[in-house]
Amino acid sequence: MKVLVVGGGGREHVLAWKLAQSPRVKQVFVAPGNAGTRLMAENVPIAATDIEGLAEWADQNSIDLTVVGPEAPLAAGLVDAFTARGLKAFGPTREAAAIEGSKVFSKNLMKKYSIPTAAYAVFTELDKAKDYVRQQEMPLVLKADGLAAGKGVVIAQNQDEALKAVEDILEAGVFGAAGNRLVVEEFLEGEEVTVLAFCDKEHVLPMVPSQDHKRIFDGDQGPNTGGMGAYSPVPALTPELANEVEENILRPTVRAMAAEGRPFSGILYAGLMLTSNGPKVLEFNARFGDPEAQVVVPRLTTDLVDVIEAVLQGSLDQIQLTWRPEAALTVVLSSGGYPGPYKTGYPISGLEEVAALPNIFVFHAGTAYEGQQVVTAGGRVLAVTALGANLRTAQERAYQAIRNIKFQGSYFRQDIGWRALSRKGQ
Ligand code: AMP
Ligand code: GLY
Repeated sequence: MKVLVVGGGGREHVLAWKLAQSPRVKQVFVAPGNAGTRLMAENVPIAATDIEGLAEWADQNSIDLTVVGPEAPLAAGLVDAFTARGLKAFGPTREAAAIEGSKVFSKNLMKKYSIPTAAYAVFTELDKAKDYVRQQEMPLVLKADGLAAGKGVVIAQNQDEALKAVEDILEAGVFGAAGNRLVVEEFLEGEEVTVLAFCDKEHVLPMVPSQDHKRIFDGDQGPNTGGMGAYSPVPALTPELANEVEENILRPTVRAMAAEGRPFSGILYAGLMLTSNGPKVLEFNARFGDPEAQVVVPRLTTDLVDVIEAVLQGSLDQIQLTWRPEAALTVVLSSGGYPGPYKTGYPISGLEEVAALPNIFVFHAGTAYEGQQVVTAGGRVLAVTALGANLRTAQERAYQAIRNIKFQGSYFRQDIGWRALSRKGQ
């Protein structure tokens, strides 16, 4: 079959890489892709958000299956548009993608169906929001309602910071229309973990857990980014806790979405805080995480096409996922300055040497070709994933490999995996 992957980041590279391994797949296309996907698939120069352009192209090229990476095309109704043309697309409809697209929607859903999450209140009026904030304990979490590329969250340490965030979101509109509504949320303490699950509107099939590293600097300091590295498995999520997540969070959420007339099909991403009162939801996303996909997907040994077909047919209960026993760890190499302003167009060296190493995978994100030369083209440039007998070995191998990839101003965190590796017995 012919498969189209929509997007151009590290997540889409690992999805294309995995789909290409299926004996059922003859050809993989990626729109728009990057320099890495061009090596193993055919890049199609159509933007991920050009829904009509993509649907037209998929129609003309007899694409059998389309897999969507990022949230924007889902929120814009890609799956609805493809389905209307009789094209198969993997992911939630626009209505179901609201679980990520609107924090107000997802918080209200969790409240209505008793799914564990932080206590919260929603505001549209500045004065009411400020009055409320003055009565709350600090730290306090303030979130813009809509999609803000992971940047719409402020953790205020004191009242001045909290009041400033209220003004930024509701009055100054620093997040644009995403900030027309404000969610004020209780601060949760604990360790964060991501659990991704395949969902077919009815059944839920959780994947192995992973942990992201959102801050730019070592020790989880500095501003938030799209994610600077990840690993899987996550020792903090014991089998008992994983079971709790499945029974108290994932299954009830999929039932709730069906009950609300927005049946959820695709990948449900649960961003969780493991609190002393059990796992609680920080956020839901409607897609694979990036860079979580770069550690979870390489561990999956089941044919991804079989799983996706089961999702589309509603027969996920017939599928059992199997996993490589090794641990996986990925380190993101970024442009100097990211997540602030940065320059692009720098030549990247060392890619071939590293890609030739066994059980090391280089997943490209912000890369492009200038003639025959691979150059930087984004903030997160690429991710190097290593498999190893345990997390420590995977970490050593990922760092050994990434040191060989060079470009001007390159930056990576030195401590990916530190939470797991500082636990006793690791
Ligand atoms: P979100 O986009 O909602 O996941 O928020 C981004 C990041 O902010 C999360 O990964 C957490 O690190 C942090 N965060 C969000 N909500 C809370 C909360 N209620 N308590 C503590 N940290 C939070
Ligand atoms: N790594 C966080 C996300 O994909 O939302």
